[in-house]
Amino acid sequence: MFWWPLLVALLGVSAIPVPQSSSTTEPTSTACAQISRAVRSLLTSNPFVTPTFTASLAFDCLSSVPNRPQPAVKLVQSLKAFTQWQSTLTFLKAPPQSYMLPPIDIQGNLDNISATASAGEFSGEYDFQASILRTFLAAHDGHFLFIPDVFKVFTFSNPLLEDVVSVSSNGTSLPKLYHYSTFQASMSTTPVAIAKINGQDATSFLAGLGSVFGLAQDVDAQWNMMFSIYSNPSGGNPLSFFPLFLGPSLTLTYENGSTQTQQTVATLNPGVDFSNIASGDDFYDAFCNPGATTGTPTASSADLVPTKPGLKRRLPALTDYPPPVVQNSDEGTTMGFFVDGSGFEDVAVLAISAFAEETDPLYLFKFQEAVQSFLSQSRAAKKQRLVIDLTSNGGGIIIAGFELFAQLFPDIDPFNANNMRLTESLANISQILAAQPIQDQNAEVAVSGLLSNLSPLDLSDPQGDKFNTTDEILTPVTLQGDQFTAYIRQPAVAGFNLTGTGNRSNPPPALFKPENVVLLTDGTCGSTCTIFSYLMIFQANVTTISVGGRPQVGPMQSVGGVEGSQVLQFSEISNVSASAINLVSDQVQSEKLLSGELGVLAEGYAIQRSANPVTSPGSINFRNAFAPSDSKTPLQFLYEPANCRFFYTPQMINTPELVWKYAVGATWTDAAHFCVQGSRVQANTTRGLDPAFRAKNNGAEGNDGSTQTEGSEDNNEKPKSSAERGLKRGTTKGLWLPAIALATLLLF
Ligand SMILES: *[C@@H]1O[C@H](CO)[C@@H](O)[C@H](O)[C@H]1NC(C)=O
Ligand SMILES: *[C@@H]1O[C@H](CO)[C@@H](O)[C@H](O)[C@H]1NC(C)=O
Ligand SMILES: *[C@@H]1O[C@H](CO)[C@@H](O)[C@H](O)[C@H]1NC(C)=O
Ligand SMILES: *[C@@H]1O[C@H](CO)[C@@H](O)[C@H](O)[C@H]1NC(C)=O
Ligand SMILES: *[C@@H]1O[C@H](CO)[C@@H](O)[C@H](O)[C@H]1NC(C)=O
Ligand SMILES: *[C@@H]1O[C@H](CO)[C@@H](O)[C@H](O)[C@H]1NC(C)=O
Ligand SMILES: *[C@@H]1O[C@H](CO)[C@@H](O)[C@H](O)[C@H]1NC(C)=O
Ligand SMILES: *[C@@H]1O[C@H](CO)[C@@H](O)[C@H](O)[C@H]1NC(C)=O
Ligand SMILES: *[C@@H]1O[C@H](CO)[C@@H](O)[C@H](O)[C@H]1NC(C)=O
Ligand SMILES: *[C@@H]1O[C@H](CO)[C@@H](O)[C@H](O)[C@H]1NC(C)=O
Repeated sequence: MFWWPLLVALLGVSAIPVPQSSSTTEPTSTACAQISRAVRSLLTSNPFVTPTFTASLAFDCLSSVPNRPQPAVKLVQSLKAFTQWQSTLTFLKAPPQSYMLPPIDIQGNLDNISATASAGEFSGEYDFQASILRTFLAAHDGHFLFIPDVFKVFTFSNPLLEDVVSVSSNGTSLPKLYHYSTFQASMSTTPVAIAKINGQDATSFLAGLGSVFGLAQDVDAQWNMMFSIYSNPSGGNPLSFFPLFLGPSLTLTYENGSTQTQQTVATLNPGVDFSNIASGDDFYDAFCNPGATTGTPTASSADLVPTKPGLKRRLPALTDYPPPVVQNSDEGTTMGFFVDGSGFEDVAVLAISAFAEETDPLYLFKFQEAVQSFLSQSRAAKKQRLVIDLTSNGGGIIIAGFELFAQLFPDIDPFNANNMRLTESLANISQILAAQPIQDQNAEVAVSGLLSNLSPLDLSDPQGDKFNTTDEILTPVTLQGDQFTAYIRQPAVAGFNLTGTGNRSNPPPALFKPENVVLLTDGTCGSTCTIFSYLMIFQANVTTISVGGRPQVGPMQSVGGVEGSQVLQFSEISNVSASAINLVSDQVQSEKLLSGELGVLAEGYAIQRSANPVTSPGSINFRNAFAPSDSKTPLQFLYEPANCRFFYTPQMINTPELVWKYAVGATWTDAAHFCVQGSRVQANTTRGLDPAFRAKNNGAEGNDGSTQTEGSEDNNEKPKSSAERGLKRGTTKGLWLPAIALATLLLF
């Protein structure tokens, strides 16, 4: 959900610029050779240096890489098979009015890219792959990303806008863009706003970049993602770090009339061996060719190639926060606070910048424990009001969102409805799984975040009815002329007792009243953060307040990140597809599958062509999530305004306590004074329940848009609450897949 975070750390390495050769002195075709020579001489004198060149030279080298039609067409064919699994394809093509962004026909664009490549009409491989990358980015979906291999070599960077912030003098007056450093107490001069970037109005220039490259479906969220903040100090904009070439330099014009220009540079990514690349053809052979033996990053350094911006959790700047009463780990993605100061004695704050941590297999248990300890300390200290700070929260482990809700409101049964695109390959996999011995199915389902959604063994519909057969899951529901699976609830996670289940079945009662809780977001809330937020908004009637956004009055969405409820890596789809084909003993059927979509997925050519097959093979949004009131439109396409909005002041950027106090004032003291003009939106209390989600025994016919025929026989069994839906799955190792750590399941 943010730009290219790892780069910030990586560029901290001693980046001694090499003598920068100018691209104008030699013809384009020798740009790669110039870089190669410079790298060789540089590395002989200092093997630890990060080679750096002018952006134009690197771009000339990239531009000289030829586009080879046959592998290009094969790459697009592979991508088309993976993108069939993207749950929002048909909605993206013709989005409803409530969606703020332009439509995008992903498959149509890919067809066009393939035809253009086939006809030899791309100027080169960079042009071809940039078209692919831009097609993915146009979905503005943090779960949908593929970064192809031409981008594994260089990163373009420019420090000029690294510390830019968008700040208001007092929280409601319109913000302007400044260098954050100009607000530091030691600076004697008055900060001067940035008026223009490269000669264009600075605000529209940055907003324009956000609208092209932002991995959020809301324009204010796209705006906020371009700036660093206490909950995401490594945030940044694509002018600062990016794999695409966005121009040779940056020029800023300040309001006092002075200007500043800085060249953009390209650095060689860690582990890339460029010493023997003398031409664009050599570049292709080394970096765009899965069989290559030269140039490719070594295994150990491969992990460093920064290519997965969408799916990394954000780490808060711990030194910006006051002393916490609770902190889940050293990373501090979950922290609890009691606010100091008169008028705030009864206020508690829970700050959650992510629902996951890097590699901790015990994350879920520590999270559960931290929330429990925070609530029990809040109870003891007689806290009445709660601010939940979700700024920068791009998601994490899905079940963590349900866990937090279960502890806050243990009496509310969480509504949950999801579906998947009913592709041919998904149907094939489901049927093959269903034909396996029961104990094998159980074992697979326990370790696979993909298969657990396709097996009736322990899966329920939104009403709480258990599925009886695979066919029930695969009975098509038609939406927008496209076919989807039946609506399903989030499957339980083996080995983890959600509060309200197992030996946690008697939790303490809710401590905070819904009207005394507010969700504080910056709009970038994505994935698991959206699942949690909607439970709070739709079911507990909790209000929301948002901070930041474009410099304009009026409302802003509280939830603007990806609202799909599960991401799936290409590698998992590919592995499961290959395993499924292997399990088919009938020769004819197995050959038929191999030659179809499932075979293309199993081969996984696109994974081999990604910039980093190990850490970022490519991903799709697997499941749509739905509001209780609307079974037709995935949440991703609905507009959800915050009830109030304010802007960051300069002091708030690294002082979360000021943000919390402001949110308290705006929510419970004086909304008219503290909310931006025109930003107050009444809570919607008339949402209702879509007939498709009503309990089946009350005779309501759901799904008018669907071909699903639901039995109308009386079902006296009370819908099972989350508490009753226990965890019956074994934890035996999977037979298709290696057992994966709990924490790697059901991410984001
Ligand atoms: C097809 O792709 C080419 C090359 O990217 C582009 O110029 C053209 O506008 C595209 N056409 C359509 C219909 O998308
Ligand atoms: C104008 O503002 C910029 C940015 O704060 C500053 O670097 C520059 O020195 C100022 N120029 C003048 C003439 O004050
Ligand atoms: C794969 O699924 C499709 C669509 O459901 C079906 O038509 C086809 O027969 C299946 N293939 C095999 C080999 O089962
Ligand atoms: C499973 O079968 C029962 C009994 O026929 C039925 O009431 C229930 O709706 C079925 N489950 C689903 C998810 O369709
Ligand atoms: C879950 O609860 C059951 C009791 O209902 C208990 O036996 C089991 O150990 C618990 N599991 C975990 C991981 O806490
Ligand atoms: C539930 O069981 C697990 C595993 O036996 C244990 O570690 C945990 O403390 C128990 N939790 C409660 C609330 O009893
Ligand atoms: C939320 O509001 C609705 C409509 O006013 C009401 O029916 C429901 O009981 C409320 N829920 C809670 C948890 O307060
Ligand atoms: C897919 O299979 C490869 C090879 O067995 C393995 O290294 C990788 O971890 C698997 N990936 C997933 C997501 O299951
Ligand atoms: C911010 O300043 C403007 C202009 O002086 C004023 O109208 C507004 O009330 C102030 N807002 C707050 C929150 O003090
Ligand atoms: C409240 O939500 C319902 C259901 O989504 C929608 O139809 C209605 O227009 C909303 N009302 C307001 C005032 O936004």
